[in-house]
Amino acid sequence: MAIKTGRADKAAVVLIDYDKCTACGLCVKVCKGAPLYMEGNKVFIDQSNFFGCVGCGHCAAVCPVECIRVEGRELSSADMIRLPDSVSRSNYNQLYSLMLSRRSIREFKEREVEQEIIDKIIEAVSTAPMGLPPSDVEILILQGKEKVSEFSRDMINYFKKIKWMFSPPILTIMRPFVSKEVYESFKTFLIPAMDIFIKEKEAGRDWLLYDAPLALYFHVSPYADPVDPFISATYAMLAAESLGLGSCMIGTVGYGVRYSKELKKKYGIPLKNQQGIMIIMGYPDVKYRRGIKRSLAKVSYY
Ligand SMILES: Cc1cc2nc3c(=O)[nH]c(=O)nc-3n(C[C@H](O)[C@H](O)[C@H](O)COP(=O)(O)O)c2cc1C
Repeated sequence: MAIKTGRADKAAVVLIDYDKCTACGLCVKVCKGAPLYMEGNKVFIDQSNFFGCVGCGHCAAVCPVECIRVEGRELSSADMIRLPDSVSRSNYNQLYSLMLSRRSIREFKEREVEQEIIDKIIEAVSTAPMGLPPSDVEILILQGKEKVSEFSRDMINYFKKIKWMFSPPILTIMRPFVSKEVYESFKTFLIPAMDIFIKEKEAGRDWLLYDAPLALYFHVSPYADPVDPFISATYAMLAAESLGLGSCMIGTVGYGVRYSKELKKKYGIPLKNQQGIMIIMGYPDVKYRRGIKRSLAKVSYY
């Protein structure tokens, strides 16, 4: 049975040009959907096997003689493109240098981010893996300081409206029904953070989106793996860094959008979509001169 996602409910069609096929078997080897199988010296397609074709495109991408086409689930033969040569691919040192040099940037120059830079970021994001193809990731783009500021104002007004729910008496009532960790996170972070956003906004400062000239909110349909927007956002962050932009993920926005129907409606986010993540971006107004060697909570081998 075909896997239902936000954008697909049928299996994709696999077309093989048998005149070109050398029966090398590579397509069968990588097919995990898994309609492709080999019998004798020929590749066959059985869409009733497992999930049928999920439209990952791996068979067409691996084929050394380009004899496979996949059509459907948002994929077509036009999407099979030439790979960059090995010299133009970044190596570990280049990638690590980019990662090490990145800092979360919250101070931006008074300069808009050009459309072609935004387009490049989107292009890079669309290479990200997803739980199930085709990607259900949606991006809301707030282009320009005014739009970002409007969103920030709306979000902070929403925080103002719901703040009573997190007052000390309500929090005490809530305590037996939530975990220690949730209670402590609310008490030590989320509630004081909302207070800071509100107070700073009243003083004319934006501590939620830091007056950024660009913000991208990544979100997904209820069908998608909940981490898909976070993976896409990470790709966007690295792409932005490589293009000379600074960026910062803003997790708080996701919580606000998740519970506010009004915000979802105003900004065209489907009501059922899952909690996502925002990234603010812009040309950095601060230059970090040293890297920061960080540690992880734990790395263990079994
Ligand atoms: C999932 C996620 C959510 C974040 N949310 C916020 C946020 O709401 N506001 C903020 O100022 N920074 C936010 N950050 C940025 C972190 O605070 C930042 O990554 C951390 O301080 C480490 O700094 P670095 O990114 O320069 O290494 C977030 C980062 C991540 C990965």
